[in-house]
This record gives sequence, C-alpha cells and structure tokens, in this order.
Amino acid sequence: MSDNHPVPESLQTRNITLAVTGASGSIYAAEFLRAAVQDDRIAKINLVVSENALRVLAEELHLSGRNDLAEKLLGAPSPKIKQHAETDIGANIASGSYPTEAMIILPCSMGTLAAIANGLAANLIQRAADVCLKENRPLILCVRETPFNRIHLRNMQLASDAGATIFPAIPTLYNHPQTTEDMARNFVHRVLAHIGLPQPAAYQWQPDYPLPTPASALKSVSSVKIRVKPSFTEPEKSSLLPA
Ligand SMILES: Cc1cc2nc3c(=O)[nH]c(=O)nc-3n(C[C@H](O)[C@H](O)[C@H](O)COP(=O)(O)O)c2cc1C
Repeated sequence: MSDNHPVPESLQTRNITLAVTGASGSIYAAEFLRAAVQDDRIAKINLVVSENALRVLAEELHLSGRNDLAEKLLGAPSPKIKQHAETDIGANIASGSYPTEAMIILPCSMGTLAAIANGLAANLIQRAADVCLKENRPLILCVRETPFNRIHLRNMQLASDAGATIFPAIPTLYNHPQTTEDMARNFVHRVLAHIGLPQPAAYQWQPDYPLPTPASALKSVSSVKIRVKPSFTEPEKSSLLPA
C-alpha cells in the first residue's frame, strides 16, 4: 500500500480512535472499521460507541447488544480493535498521556457536537475529544443532521475554532456509487486521506475524462424538469433561463 501512496513518516497514524454516536449513518462506521483494519499503517483502533448509537445501529444495521460490536460490524473480530464503554471515563483515551494520533467521530450527532463544542467532557467520547483539542491532535467530526438549526451551526463554528475539523457525512455522487456501501466507502477514504492515510482503492477525480458530447449533454438537460412557483414574478422566472 505505501509503495503507491507514500506517506511522510510524520503523518503516519498508528493509533486512532473511532467514536460512533447516535446520528444516522452506521454504515459509515462499519466501512471505516473495515478500511482501518485492512490498513497496515494502523496498529490500533480504540472504539467507543455511544448508548444512543446502539439504538441507531439496531435500526439501520439490525445489530443488537453492546458487546463485541467490531465483530458484529465486520463479521469477524480484529485484534487491532479495543472497544471501550462510553461510561468508562478511566479508559486509555481519556488521558492526554495516551498517544492517540487522531480521533474520528463518525457519525457525529448534534448532541455530541454540542457537548464537545462546549467542553462538557461528560462521557468517554466527549472527554477523548476534549483531550484531542487540548493536545492539538486531529479531531474529525463527521456531523450528520439536516437541516441545521442555528445552534448546530454555532456549535460547528465553536468546535472548529477550538481546532476540530468539521467533516460532514455528505457522500459524493460524481464517483457514481452503485450501492450505499460504495457511497460510505468513498466517504471513509476521504476521511482517512484527511488524516494522512490515503487509500489505494480511493476514487480519484480525473479532470481529463472525455467531456459529454453536445448531443448527450442536451439530452440530459432536456430531461431536467424545472418547476417554477406560480407566485414568481416575470423577471425572477426569466432569471432561471440560460442567458
Ligand atoms: C434512527 C435515529 C436516527 C437519528 N439520526 C440523527 C442524526 O442524523 N443526527 C443527529 O444529530 N441525531 C440523530 N438522532 C438523535 C440522536 O440519537 C440523539 O440526539 C442522541 O441523544 C444522540 O446521543 P449521542 O450523541 O450520545 O450518541 C437519531 C436517532 C435515531 C433513533
């Protein structure tokens, strides 16, 4: 892997934390673990799943129980993964003396975002995130909600100002994903690349792809239906038309 994608020594991440909270998108967590377990540059993954995430895991992936979650998500255990209870405030990642190199919260709920943005440190996920911020370590918050209210937006600003990266769980479509797993995998590849672990199978945009022919471009434009609200005034209507 490193032959194709050499990573500078200083950027190599050997020990990472994955926290899963109660936002929609359990599949992202599963794909993240799958990629991280296969990546030889990662030696250890500390995993924390919030109590509320368990509810979402049950809903979205039909998983039950709070033990052996990595095994349930991946289909097999991995010696790299150490799961901690959300209530275990004495776990390794709760201390700045423990050398976690990056923490990813995927997906990150608005509740956990709010707690981190305001420094609550009331459970292991919030405390470990707080530690990353105080130690200037990468903290990636893959927030998921729609629409955002002003409190969400303010909390994202606060967390960003404190050093976190707001990395919304928004999938790409230009890579033409065929399945939800494809979508989640591409997103996870972007997260891993962001922490200095580019993945060999990652989709890369090729700007010199053949452009669509004028005929196919016209066909796709003609199939788009634009609905104009009846209350629009004439100038607004015409501004929707190509010049
Ligand atoms: C099926 C389901 C989907 C949810 N999706 C979201 C979501 O996308 N974003 C969000 O902020 N909260 C979502 N929630 C609500 C959170 O789970 C809830 O706010 C919870 O308190 C978050 O707790 P945690 O941050 O400790 O995991 C969802 C809840 C359920 C049951």
